[in-house]
Amino acid sequence: MRFDVITIFPAMVEQALRAGIIGRAIERGTLGVRVHDLRDYTTDRHRVVDDEPYGGGPGMVLKPEPIFRALDAIRGEDAPPFVVLTSPQGTRFTQDVARRLSGKAHVVLLCGRYEGIDERVRARIDEEVSIGDYVLSGGELAAAVVVDATMRLIPGVLGNEASGEFESFGAADAEIEVDVEGVPRSQHGAGGLLDYPHYTRPAEFMGMRAPEVLMNGDHAEIRRWRREQQLRKTLKNRPDLLEGAALSAEDRRLIEAMRREDARKG
Ligand code: 6GU
Repeated sequence: MRFDVITIFPAMVEQALRAGIIGRAIERGTLGVRVHDLRDYTTDRHRVVDDEPYGGGPGMVLKPEPIFRALDAIRGEDAPPFVVLTSPQGTRFTQDVARRLSGKAHVVLLCGRYEGIDERVRARIDEEVSIGDYVLSGGELAAAVVVDATMRLIPGVLGNEASGEFESFGAADAEIEVDVEGVPRSQHGAGGLLDYPHYTRPAEFMGMRAPEVLMNGDHAEIRRWRREQQLRKTLKNRPDLLEGAALSAEDRRLIEAMRREDARKG
């Protein structure tokens, strides 16, 4: 899979993607990410990418010509890429959108900036996405978020092939995979719930002990504990997710008990 990012701040996108697992995969050549400076697609001496809005008003608008030139240059000989605009007016970027994009051969990300982008560019855009309900100064950080969330789903990018889909927000209907013990992974990963807490050595740190249940080797009990922790965390931080989660009768009983407990504590 290949990503091309078009921006007036290439360093901002490059920096964000340089570190960690994505950065290493780009370095190794496993992932193809190219960042293009929109100014390189201007034709005037001052490399102007923006202009005043028709009809007046504050701020500047990204001009259409450099964007069309950039899109034409990137497209080259290939089949047309899927073009995504990052903007606060977009539909919500979610794990489902990341999964859908990861199935595409070539995605172009156009970073919105200033007060907006000339509406005629719309003719070349397949999808407009926002990463959340807040306003960023520009689409660059959002583009880095989209590249990261999408590319980590590409097989071979993560060390552990399975882990990408089995953290919080993995598909509730993901195929059932089993771990070395034959335990279905969907039991202790996603299911539309938030992740359970993790611990590693030392067993005691500054007077804080890791839960004993994780050290006794009883995997059925560990699985139960982790599930309860997932339910607890989701109920506390993202109760909205419980609506869409695949819950067993036992899960529902536990949630009811937690709700009663919380009500009692006030
Ligand atoms: Cl994609 N762009 C900007 N400028 N702000 C945002 C955003 C995108 N997503 C959330 N806020």
